[in-house]
Amino acid sequence: MSIKKISKTQPELFDFTKENYDKIKIEISKYPKDRKSSAVMALLNIAQMQYDNWIPLAAIKKIAEILTMPYIKVYEVATFYSMFNLSPVGKYFVQVCTTTPCMIRGAKNITEACKKYISQNQNELSENKICSWTEVECLGACVNAPMMQINQDYFEDLDEEKTEEILKKLLNDSFPEPGSSKKRTSNAPEKNRLTLLEVKNA
Ligand code: FES
Repeated sequence: MSIKKISKTQPELFDFTKENYDKIKIEISKYPKDRKSSAVMALLNIAQMQYDNWIPLAAIKKIAEILTMPYIKVYEVATFYSMFNLSPVGKYFVQVCTTTPCMIRGAKNITEACKKYISQNQNELSENKICSWTEVECLGACVNAPMMQINQDYFEDLDEEKTEEILKKLLNDSFPEPGSSKKRTSNAPEKNRLTLLEVKNA
């Protein structure tokens, strides 16, 4: 759960593109006819992807209408999960995990770099208006901590130097290569395996 800042500036209307209505149809078809509200998170995600990485209140209303759900129920979901942004973020939105495993592996170096290169405070745009950052809870990549998410991609095994390199690229409007900065595949050991040596491909 995260504290949400709802944008004071809101568009009056929102509608999905035709292409996104096709995606919505597919998402709804995954659930029984009387359970279409189960597609609410998928639809919020589609709205966010369509609307520059944030969800205006008009989109929440539109989703409630499509799923025949009370507006407040869609609003509750949108405000509960940190993955949904309810106010504008940068073209490059940096989410830094600061939960315990990342914290003890140096997440503070990452937040300090964000303060230095992007903006002193979270949820503020960088001077050139293309980047913003925020702290979030565990993103499920603890084994390669510390890490951050930029838009849809994960950047793992970070240190101060690597983080600064990534942020500088973003500020130059170029997207860095995602993944582990130590080139680990998934959660492979950093050096040679010490366990399960008898198991092939463990
Ligand atoms: S604690 Fe950072 S990804 Fe889990």
